[in-house]
Amino acid sequence: MCGIVGYLGHREAYPIVIEGLKRLEYRGYDSAGIALFDGENLKVSKTKGKVADLEALSEKEITKSGNIGIGHTRWATHGVPNDVNSHPHVSNSGELVIIHNGIIENYESLKQELISRGYVFHSDTDTEVLVNLIEDVKKQENIKLGKAVQIALNQVIGAYAIAVFDKTKPEEIVIARLGSPLAVGIGENEFFIASDASPFLEYTKNAIYLEDEEMAIIRFHKPIKVRKIKDDSLVAPYIQELQLNLEQIEKGGYEHFMLKEIHEQPKAITDTYRGRLLRNEAIIKMAGIEDNMKKFLNANRIIIVACGTSWHAGLVAEYIFEDLARIPVEVEYASEFRYRNPVITENDILIAISQSGETADTLAAIKLAKSKGAFVFGVCNVVGSSIARETHAGAYTHAGPEIGVASTKAFTTQITVLTLIALRLSRAKGTISSSDFRTHLLELEMIPKKVEKALESDSHIKMIADIYKDAPNCLYLGRGYNFPVALEGALKLKEISYIHAEGYPAAEMKHGPIALIDENMPIIVIATKKGHYEKVVSNIQEIKSRKGKIIGIVTEGDVDVRKLADHIIEVPDTLESLSPLLTTIPLQLLSYHIAVLLGKNVDQPRNLAKSVTVE
Ligand code: F6R
Repeated sequence: MCGIVGYLGHREAYPIVIEGLKRLEYRGYDSAGIALFDGENLKVSKTKGKVADLEALSEKEITKSGNIGIGHTRWATHGVPNDVNSHPHVSNSGELVIIHNGIIENYESLKQELISRGYVFHSDTDTEVLVNLIEDVKKQENIKLGKAVQIALNQVIGAYAIAVFDKTKPEEIVIARLGSPLAVGIGENEFFIASDASPFLEYTKNAIYLEDEEMAIIRFHKPIKVRKIKDDSLVAPYIQELQLNLEQIEKGGYEHFMLKEIHEQPKAITDTYRGRLLRNEAIIKMAGIEDNMKKFLNANRIIIVACGTSWHAGLVAEYIFEDLARIPVEVEYASEFRYRNPVITENDILIAISQSGETADTLAAIKLAKSKGAFVFGVCNVVGSSIARETHAGAYTHAGPEIGVASTKAFTTQITVLTLIALRLSRAKGTISSSDFRTHLLELEMIPKKVEKALESDSHIKMIADIYKDAPNCLYLGRGYNFPVALEGALKLKEISYIHAEGYPAAEMKHGPIALIDENMPIIVIATKKGHYEKVVSNIQEIKSRKGKIIGIVTEGDVDVRKLADHIIEVPDTLESLSPLLTTIPLQLLSYHIAVLLGKNVDQPRNLAKSVTVE
């Protein structure tokens, strides 16, 4: 959470930092701030609100010149979002200025210690404690900033990505990382610092990603120096060439990133299976699986850990793995798994699913499983992310950058990767016949075209959204493979429209939620032909008798549900195991249109952040 940006070089820092913050707003957007050194003075401008509010404030407050600057867009952890708690934070002497993403867990004891030495605090943040701790160490020991940062960080418990500079020595920025991502763009006599590479894509394609427990000193006209925070040893920085381009992180004519990303799904799914699904040869090739096939074949069980939407993809995978590959699967919320002393053995495989590859709870679950000897496989979207690096092997989803806070293409591409894995393993285990295997490959290859077809219902869905946008509650029902889709549909609605919604297995409805049903309750029922169609039709009858409003997600040409439902939305026919890739689409569009009609900020819903790097 929180996005950080910094610049040191020959250009004006202000526009680079501001534009960079706009690109990182997906990481947090409850307050924003910037610090610039204009050659004489340190100028700090910060405010509750979005980067646009900061820009408006900077017009009045800040001299926008200076070649060194840092900026921050916040998702509050310590202290409510207000002007004072916004970053950057300045030390008591007014010399040091810092931006921070993460949490300093022992901040209270450090703060008391500093107070006893005369330090005064203005905000409720852990970050203000950190900058004063650095100042205190620097002054006490009479040492340079880099060394002071290192000593201070060795006293800190928690997670951080920081950038700090000293206005009395405005030719260097010190950065450090533990548990929160930090990239450095290397240009010609200039450096860019950011939580991800998007703020500096138009300036340089060369970047270094700091590893956990590393810090770097960035100086004008000097090569970057990377060190281990613990023992001060020098690390040779690995400069990688970025594959990302600017177009991928822009809206491309769509009103919102979320809508763009919904419409990108045919391409994203194709990119996910490209080079892996070889239909003519009737094989699936995935290096991460081939190299570890023995482990997969000998595994007692697969444990899937993830959070939010990625957890829902894990639930879909549970059905696929058990159904096709006959491997027992457990799906766990990473946040629960890590704290409940789970039984893990060396014969278990842990699959961690994460779009961002930075989710703190998922990372912690991985570390726990590794410590118990399990083999850990990652399914991530962001290349080079912490989870991608922390796992023994993995498969990228290749969905391209997902910027809308509500996950859409991440979900369908995660399911695609997991389906490929399940199919590959079922072939290796002999739990699928060769003709069924071929049918799956053929059907999977046709999914992008069918997603395109499902997207054609957009205006029909918008009309339905208009009818139900004022409903205070909503129920989503599905069975089998489509139960997790019901959960995902409900999550999408909650997070962007703030309407209370719940997903349930359709048959479970009569054990409680049925009491909620009256003529005002919209119920979205996934009732595609394959699977438990007749059973779901019976559930629809039960809703009908209680006057609930039914929106059926059905297979093209459906007759039975059409007779019962108030509205139907058709999706193309496919195999039951692949149906989540299609039934998800209308649910994404329904949430999107309801949120837009209600005037909500679709791409940046309140209280949320795209990348949850705190536990
Ligand atoms: C929902 C959403 C979140 C994420 C969750 C996990 O639309 O975006 O629920 O799915 O925070 O994030 P990743 O997949 O990055 O680990």
